[in-house]
Amino acid sequence: MCGIVGYIGNRQAAPILLEGLSKLEYRGYDSAGIAVYNGERIDMVKSKGRLKVLSELTHDGEKLPGTVGIGHTRWATHGSPSDKNAHPHFNKEGSIVVVHNGIIENYLKLKKKLQKKGYEFVSDTDTEVIAHLLDYYYTGNPLQAITKIMHRMEGSYALGIIFKAHPDQLFAVRKDSPLIVGHTDGGNIIASDVPAVLKHTREVYFIENEEIVQMTENTMEFFNVDEEPIEKESVRIEWDVNAAEKGGYEHFMLKEMYEQPKAITDTFSPRVKDGRIVIDELNMSDEEIKAVKKIMIVACGSAYHTGVTSKYVFEGLARIPVEVDLASEFRYRNPILEEGTMVIVISQSGETADTLAALRESKKQGARVLGIVNVVGSSIAREADNVMYTWAGPEIAVATTKAYSAHLIALYLLAMKFAYTKGCIDDSDLADMLEDLKALPAQVEMLLNNKERIQKFANRYLAAKDIFFIGRGIDYAISLEGSLKLKEVSYIHSEAYAAGELKHGTISLVEEGTLVVSVLTQKDLFKKMISNMVEVQTRGAFVMAVTMEGNTEAERAADYVIYIPETNKYFTNSLAIIPLQLLGYYVAVGRGCDVDKPRNLAKSVTVE
Ligand code: F6R
Repeated sequence: MCGIVGYIGNRQAAPILLEGLSKLEYRGYDSAGIAVYNGERIDMVKSKGRLKVLSELTHDGEKLPGTVGIGHTRWATHGSPSDKNAHPHFNKEGSIVVVHNGIIENYLKLKKKLQKKGYEFVSDTDTEVIAHLLDYYYTGNPLQAITKIMHRMEGSYALGIIFKAHPDQLFAVRKDSPLIVGHTDGGNIIASDVPAVLKHTREVYFIENEEIVQMTENTMEFFNVDEEPIEKESVRIEWDVNAAEKGGYEHFMLKEMYEQPKAITDTFSPRVKDGRIVIDELNMSDEEIKAVKKIMIVACGSAYHTGVTSKYVFEGLARIPVEVDLASEFRYRNPILEEGTMVIVISQSGETADTLAALRESKKQGARVLGIVNVVGSSIAREADNVMYTWAGPEIAVATTKAYSAHLIALYLLAMKFAYTKGCIDDSDLADMLEDLKALPAQVEMLLNNKERIQKFANRYLAAKDIFFIGRGIDYAISLEGSLKLKEVSYIHSEAYAAGELKHGTISLVEEGTLVVSVLTQKDLFKKMISNMVEVQTRGAFVMAVTMEGNTEAERAADYVIYIPETNKYFTNSLAIIPLQLLGYYVAVGRGCDVDKPRNLAKSVTVE
């Protein structure tokens, strides 16, 4: 997804912009550009490709002197990745310059109108419409022009804007795309996300929908769409600056896998007090919890997979029916949310467009929405009725690992809380489960330390064509995530199947040497799984099994076995996923893939 950085102050803007953009690379991009006011005119350099190209073109920013500027990394939506479509975009005279994150949905209509008035377009982007529209409405007052275009634009946008006629000012505005601003020593900075400003400040303001910021070197004023001044409070960011860097690991993905024990601890320990689960932010009385008749979980990708796992946990522990839906499906299927339905949306970024839309649809229908979110202050966090943060810290690798693990913990805690409140589990069950939860971080660490063994195994499958993942019950949910992790980073096709479904079609794809990863952590399903493993093994598959310590029977039907330590049957996902994450990671590394930024993917998917 696109990234924005803007600076106004007493320092050279271009190096600050380039450095800030480098901290947003994780969002995914295909071109980049910066524009700086040089005392006479606004100079711009932009190009397709990585930021390195932009740094070279600008001699690390030296070629663009000036103390006010905006920069952008673009992930193409309208118009292919190219120099001309890269941001920033100018109006005709080069007197207004804009960077944009989001999509202007009515841009074609606006473009036609502007063309009729004589405006000429040089790019295929929706963003260029914004520059010309500002030009059309600008009569000397930038704030007025900005509010006017806000009334005309439909869709999502975070914008950074400079007017040549007001070189001592920088403007920013947002609707449905993230944007923050921070005051630095001798200037102000805007950005799409926190890592871009951490070097300069820890106090940031989260810009809300339809809010505008007008900045000078020393001042920062906020306005609503009616041009009325508004008051905002800053939020202190406690992250360690290094947390947003690779910290000695070869890839962010590996580093973040290693941060899982901490992410798990940080997510559960503040919510366990005196042997009880305390989730203040849930803000529900025992009566309200007991009144929940159904839970609807909505999310995308890996977050959806945590939802699939928690269906088994909620239903098994708290005996509440759970429906899990992909957000992109939910929002368009006219969902039925009867009284007593609680909606849980899960999102690492808190900005996923489909999940946000599902949240809004649920609220429209009167449902209570709980967000389980990693990014503090994100759109989903702000719009949900209640938000339960996972404390996984910034996740930079596109493929999620630590946020996935933290989401699972939040969901276990919720299910346990509901189960206890409803009387489905008693004090002793709760105490046992909490013991098992507390043991998870050390167990995860132990599995991570086994990485060399998995790496060796992974190296045997670098040329695989297809890989299958099978499991039953919770193990099916684990398989879904194991398969996604492998395919998204290694580009090897893989599929996850409920093991019982294999013979309804998929087994015909199994041939000599096909790797079938079998997950069997559920005691009551061991025997059934072993039968499914034998079925594929006799058809030539190489079977890798992930199972519980002591289940040596698995060796009967597997060629290679990874054992995970004993835990509560509802928590096995948190352990079984570790070898599967490592498998995906090492296959990708062995194949020379761009592990942290797999092709065609973006970390934060803010378009539907
Ligand atoms: C896969 C992955 C994605 C995300 C999905 C939802 O490794 O990271 O599938 O899980 O795009 O993103 P969030 O959680 O930010 O809503």
